[in-house]
Amino acid sequence: MEFSADKLKKVDEIIARYPEGKQKSALLPVLHLAQEQFGWLSAETMDYVASLLKLEPIEVYEVATFYSMYNLKPVGKYLFEVCQTGPCMLRGCDDIIAYIAEKLNIKPGETTSDGLFTLKTVECLGACGYAPMMQLGKHYKEHLTKEKVDAIIEECRKNAAANN
Ligand code: FES
Repeated sequence: MEFSADKLKKVDEIIARYPEGKQKSALLPVLHLAQEQFGWLSAETMDYVASLLKLEPIEVYEVATFYSMYNLKPVGKYLFEVCQTGPCMLRGCDDIIAYIAEKLNIKPGETTSDGLFTLKTVECLGACGYAPMMQLGKHYKEHLTKEKVDAIIEECRKNAAANN
């Protein structure tokens, strides 16, 4: 297991932002790079990141297991991260989560058998004014309704088919 040459260069650039001996400060962005390249953070990947940053593996595990944006198991091509914190709850996120789960025939934390979708519940994503909402890749999908969920799933399926 190793980063691509391109990613290794980025790792060096990130580490160089911090004083000698403070490589731990580079951990979050390096974990993002690892997730980008390997898709999710296995124990092997976290150990590799630990070795690059001269950290104990446990220091990496502590951070990776704290933040919901790091995936500790493989995820589908489309990751639905639905906010379930108070304001989104007041605006009906439970119904949205249940609807997605029923439509995709998976529970939160699971991936569809075709590997296309993963449903995950997360805490506040800072878009409470647009509740209920979810993150899909680099985009926020806001003011979710069942109709919007249908359209999002349909669009994902179309994109997946077009890219095959
Ligand atoms: S509570 Fe859902 S984005 Fe803040």
